[in-house]
Amino acid sequence: MSLEEGNTPLIKTSTFGGNFLAKFEGANPTGSFKDRGMSVAVSNASNLGYRAVMAASTGNTAASAAAYAARAGMRSFIILPKGKIALGKLAQSVLYGAEVIEVEGNFDEGLEAVLNVHKTNGTVYPLNSFNPWRLEGQKTLAFEVVESVGVPDTVVVPVGNAGNIYAIWKGFVELTQVGLTERVPRMIGVQAEGASPIARAVLEGREIPEFTESPETIASAIRIGKPVNWPRAMRAIRESNGTAVVVTDEEILLAQTEMARREGLGVEPASAATLAGYVKLLKLGVVSKEELVVGVFTGHSLKDPDSMMRAGTRRFLVPPSEVLKLVEGELRV
Ligand code: F0G
Repeated sequence: MSLEEGNTPLIKTSTFGGNFLAKFEGANPTGSFKDRGMSVAVSNASNLGYRAVMAASTGNTAASAAAYAARAGMRSFIILPKGKIALGKLAQSVLYGAEVIEVEGNFDEGLEAVLNVHKTNGTVYPLNSFNPWRLEGQKTLAFEVVESVGVPDTVVVPVGNAGNIYAIWKGFVELTQVGLTERVPRMIGVQAEGASPIARAVLEGREIPEFTESPETIASAIRIGKPVNWPRAMRAIRESNGTAVVVTDEEILLAQTEMARREGLGVEPASAATLAGYVKLLKLGVVSKEELVVGVFTGHSLKDPDSMMRAGTRRFLVPPSEVLKLVEGELRV
């Protein structure tokens, strides 16, 4: 089951003061990295004869699951925290014809509901990232990076439910195991301040994260308090000699506009966390200007129109006859 996902652009940036490449996952068919994993997982569901799939989601998993299920001729049940999903993502699930189940609760509670259905009713295939096929698909990002630029020194990834950072690390590790490469990059996870159990555990040197009952951040994709894949993410960070960084919502929003206005790249807030993290790591001296860093930009800006509008810009309302005067006036400023 494919929509020709993957092979996303790796774009050189020039304005952030270091050697920083952006892997633009927004170029995937539904606008996020989730398509890599959905292709594999929905193919598996189809091979096993399932007729329906389900996923809890902060929006992107939902949109991707709905699209691939549609392509496979399956029904999709999408569990969303009510009122906490960016408009573009909700609209995608609607367009692809998912059955949208909104719950009064957060993502973590939605995921528990999926696990409950999975344990009691075996006829609906679960597509959340505890499903290992998802991660097998997502690891292909590492292969593409190596094909384009070799093994980078460092990879920066936004962390929510924590599957992706592990999947990408696994991809790099497997290349070393077959002798195609000789080392694995440092994996650095970025979390938003109000939803940062893994980053805090890493930075404070604790083995087990302290989970958050009510996670809060503008980056709704990574508004997750109890990441299901935390042991895997912490292993990827530890074994790659990596680390983590916490960014504020203000830093995320600033990074989103800077990415758009300096580099012409539109990303959603959870992805902007990658840039906010990189800028902070440079400032802290955790990352040097010389080292080759790949930042994973997980989702397209169109996913979250509200966040784009927040950026604000110079806007005017004039009759058509006044446009010339206005432009000439502006050019003088
Ligand atoms: N960036 C975006 C745009 C995401 O949608 C997600 C996760 C992440 C980063 C974090 O990835 O969970 O593997 O650590 N979104 C999930 C969803 C939770 O439901 O769409 P992760």
